[in-house]
Amino acid sequence: MTPLPPSGMTPLPPGATIGIVGGGQLGRMSALAAARLGYRCHILTPEADCPAALVSAAITLGDYEDRAALEAFAAAVDVITFEFENVSAAGLDLLASRKPVRPGAEILRVSQDRAAEKSFLNGIGIATAPWRAVNSLAELQQAADELGLPAILKTTRLGYDGKGQAALRSPGDLAPAFKRLAPKPLVLEGFVDFACEISVIVARGADGGIASFDPVENLHRDHILDLTLAPARIPTQTAAAATQIARHIAEGLGLVGLLAVEMFVTADNRVVVNEIAPRPHNSGHWTIDACGASQFELHIRAVAGLPLLPATRHSDAVMKNLVGPDEIALWPQILATPGLIPHHYGKTEARPGRKLGHVTRLFPRDALPGPFGIRDALGPLASE
Ligand SMILES: Nc1ncnc2c1ncn2[C@@H]1O[C@H](COP(=O)(O)OP(=O)(O)O)[C@@H](O)[C@H]1O
Ligand SMILES: [Mg+2]
Repeated sequence: MTPLPPSGMTPLPPGATIGIVGGGQLGRMSALAAARLGYRCHILTPEADCPAALVSAAITLGDYEDRAALEAFAAAVDVITFEFENVSAAGLDLLASRKPVRPGAEILRVSQDRAAEKSFLNGIGIATAPWRAVNSLAELQQAADELGLPAILKTTRLGYDGKGQAALRSPGDLAPAFKRLAPKPLVLEGFVDFACEISVIVARGADGGIASFDPVENLHRDHILDLTLAPARIPTQTAAAATQIARHIAEGLGLVGLLAVEMFVTADNRVVVNEIAPRPHNSGHWTIDACGASQFELHIRAVAGLPLLPATRHSDAVMKNLVGPDEIALWPQILATPGLIPHHYGKTEARPGRKLGHVTRLFPRDALPGPFGIRDALGPLASE
């Protein structure tokens, strides 16, 4: 992966257009940050009324594999970035042949595929769960023998919010899980008995400068992120090690843009990387309210060739996702609760499991309450 040529470092002037592939809430919040810096955003999306399009200057309506749509989109923008990373190799090549693409197409190819991602990470000396590529039931049996059970079988591509995964607890689970997920290419991962899950988000500029947000702690419900606590309740040395890992990955990728690294912390404070995403991440939404420059602003700054700022946290924070119809139904009460900072994504369809918004609650630095206090601090969401 070659870094962008020096010409790619010319700062994008205000009034220029940033193309964002994907129309979800990550694109929406990126577009809001871009607007503050004077940019126009142009969204490539198959859905006209998507969260990002509702706050952007223009859209190209089309599928991510539609060559005509990709051409029209590329022609309309000055630089291209992503909130949706699963564009095919052919689509990425087309975009990259037309306009600067940040992060680079090669980085997306790595992060799209769990096997490629883990090979890359292990190749630069980063610890992951032990894993094996699995393409047949015989390979699965062999992998389970080698790694032991419990283990997790995952599709290599297109998984999110726990979709495309099966937990294998006993030998009898292998065949049904394989049947459900095959013929997609799979990986088997050894189960990591983690004490907590954390993530680190770093931005890297075209000049190689890196800004890293403090490690945060992530609590899931039904495989969907529920709460992020900033900072993570881990020892200082563990936080430093996690940050160093994220920086090393960003450098190894030659990234220009933003990178989120999901990690497990074991009871003996080892840090094991779970997965990476070269884009803004749900576990970084708290940065909008608790940092001088959010993950979205640093993403846009990196993509636009602007100077990065230190990713300094001025407050501790708790972020709670608003998922599905039940939690968004509390919107009126949320709006009426002092201290809850509301973020609505403008989605009209409140399907179960869909992320519809989030709230952030700030605390003075080093004053983040324990888990019970955190729920209490969420007012109408306390019992959710
Ligand atoms: N190897 C593993 N060991 C233990 N837990 C895991 C492992 N892999 C995934 N998990 C659990 O499943 C969740 C979702 O897995 P992940 O690989 O992050 O997929 P997704 O793309 O859905 O986020 C993780 O956040 C973690 O809680
Ligand atoms: Mg994950």
